[in-house]
Amino acid sequence: MYPENYKKEEDLGISRRLDYSKQFKKRRGIRIGMVMAKQNEIISIFDSIAQGYDYMNSLMTIGLDKHWRRLAVKKAEVKRGSTCLDLCCGTSKLTRELARSAGPEGRVVGVDLSREMLAKAADNLRNFKFRANIKLIRADAADLPFADNFFDCAVIGWGLRNIADISSALEEMIRVVKPGGKLVSIDMGKPHPVIMTVFRPYVRYFLPFVGGLVTNNSQAFKYFASSIETFLSPKELSGLFQGLGLIEVRYRNYAAGIISLIEGRKP
Ligand SMILES: C[S@@+](CC[C@H](N)C(=O)[O-])C[C@H]1O[C@@H](n2cnc3c(N)ncnc32)[C@H](O)[C@@H]1O
Repeated sequence: MYPENYKKEEDLGISRRLDYSKQFKKRRGIRIGMVMAKQNEIISIFDSIAQGYDYMNSLMTIGLDKHWRRLAVKKAEVKRGSTCLDLCCGTSKLTRELARSAGPEGRVVGVDLSREMLAKAADNLRNFKFRANIKLIRADAADLPFADNFFDCAVIGWGLRNIADISSALEEMIRVVKPGGKLVSIDMGKPHPVIMTVFRPYVRYFLPFVGGLVTNNSQAFKYFASSIETFLSPKELSGLFQGLGLIEVRYRNYAAGIISLIEGRKP
């Protein structure tokens, strides 16, 4: 699944490999069990739509997703030779943008928990110029297999909304980024109430209908609608960034609030 010629895992500061069954046994408690169950459900949704994801993504955003991903990369302050983390990398759309900016000397690690999304990501990387600089890893965002202070920056695109344990994922992102490094999340926001009158029927009814035709799974797109509606507001999310100790926390809305980008710096 991984592109060939990639640097050895030790070079990437990978401190341990994950074993989900052991991990589950180690962590006890009803809350953890519920979080895991919710997470498994979400991952199986992504497994089921992986093949149609890229097409649906471009269709849903009328191609603007590329622009928003570039914006996230810019805010992450990626430089030539940077080592970047793309959390919840999915089919590697954002991973490739990071790799382009990091250039021939850069290194990018894409992490996702869905086997099928990672398989599609590997497919997408087959003819990509900087594929040798990219590593894909299957891991839980809330328990990352990397050493502390390893990455120059960490980016998460449309991922936090799908993570059952958001605080743990953010804590992990902070842990693995070097002091002074940027953390950036881009995701769905809370559109203006006027926009909402059009946006709500669009995500509740139009998306499941079209998504059902493309991926044969309209249920998955019903989940998207509810995940968008129940997700934290940009203000709440930046409060979480600040509460976890990040500095220079800022958020900005795009497309009348449909998209929101939040950034912070590790002190
Ligand atoms: C909407 S997709 C975003 C994909 C990609 N970032 C993009 O820009 O298109 C969300 C991804 O989050 C992944 N995901 C959800 N929970 C996760 C977790 N706890 N750990 C790792 N990946 C997770 C899903 O498998 C899915 O591929």
